[in-house]
Amino acid sequence: MTIILSIKNVGKTYQSGGKSLTVLQHINFEVEAGSTLSIVGPSGSGKTTLLGLCAGLDRASTGSIVLNGIPLDDLNEDERARVRNQHVGFVFQNFQLLPTLTALENVMVPLELRGQRNSRTTALELLDRVGLANRGHHYPLQLSGGEQQRISIARAFSNSPKILFADEPTGNLDADTSETIEHLLFNLNKEMGTTLILVTHDLDLASRTRRVIRMKGGAVVSDTVVQDNAL
Ligand SMILES: Nc1ncnc2c1ncn2[C@@H]1O[C@H](COP(=O)(O)OP(=O)(O)OP(=O)(O)O)[C@@H](O)[C@H]1O
Ligand SMILES: [Mg+2]
Repeated sequence: MTIILSIKNVGKTYQSGGKSLTVLQHINFEVEAGSTLSIVGPSGSGKTTLLGLCAGLDRASTGSIVLNGIPLDDLNEDERARVRNQHVGFVFQNFQLLPTLTALENVMVPLELRGQRNSRTTALELLDRVGLANRGHHYPLQLSGGEQQRISIARAFSNSPKILFADEPTGNLDADTSETIEHLLFNLNKEMGTTLILVTHDLDLASRTRRVIRMKGGAVVSDTVVQDNAL
């Protein structure tokens, strides 16, 4: 058993207007490589914040995070960006596509950053998998919310990440498209051994992952294996 993510006593406190606000405290868990995990809990309970820390998008205030054997705590912004490009895919709750790039170019960015050849071909294949092969030349503002979400998922897959974090990946999609995206996420997990960590309000989706972590008020209140036969 390989541990791909280890979170030890992690906390996050924001400072603003001379006041401090603690939004995460005493978080501890480990994630097995290749497994699937959902993080659930009420709005404001700290799910997005936690996902961002795990993925190296932001720094924890306390505790330590080790991602794929790399301790993130002492890395600077550039070093964390490199770790993300090499190991991590991230689907943002608000997509975060670059508005001045087309859909296709957005998907190509992580590939170009790592100097991969044939980035256009790979990006086109990914657009096809999310059902948007014919929309590659459109800019994010010319796409619906659900379409932007699918572009963001294609981008997250593009660097064949060892670990994929997805914040409400089906939050803006109709039932059919959700089903397609769920298939895509779970197939990637199976075919490529990608570890999958989802934040979701959809309890049906959460019940399909092996394990569910429930958060409340910035703390983990339960951590349960719900699908014994899932990865
Ligand atoms: N940069 C920031 N500065 C101050 N407070 C912040 C900042 N970012 C998030 N917070 C606060 O941290 C808490 C947790 O936010 P977070 O986005 O992690 O919640 P969430 O569980 O993802 O909620 P939702 O289900 O609505 O997406 C919230 O109270 C939020 O206002
Ligand atoms: Mg959130």
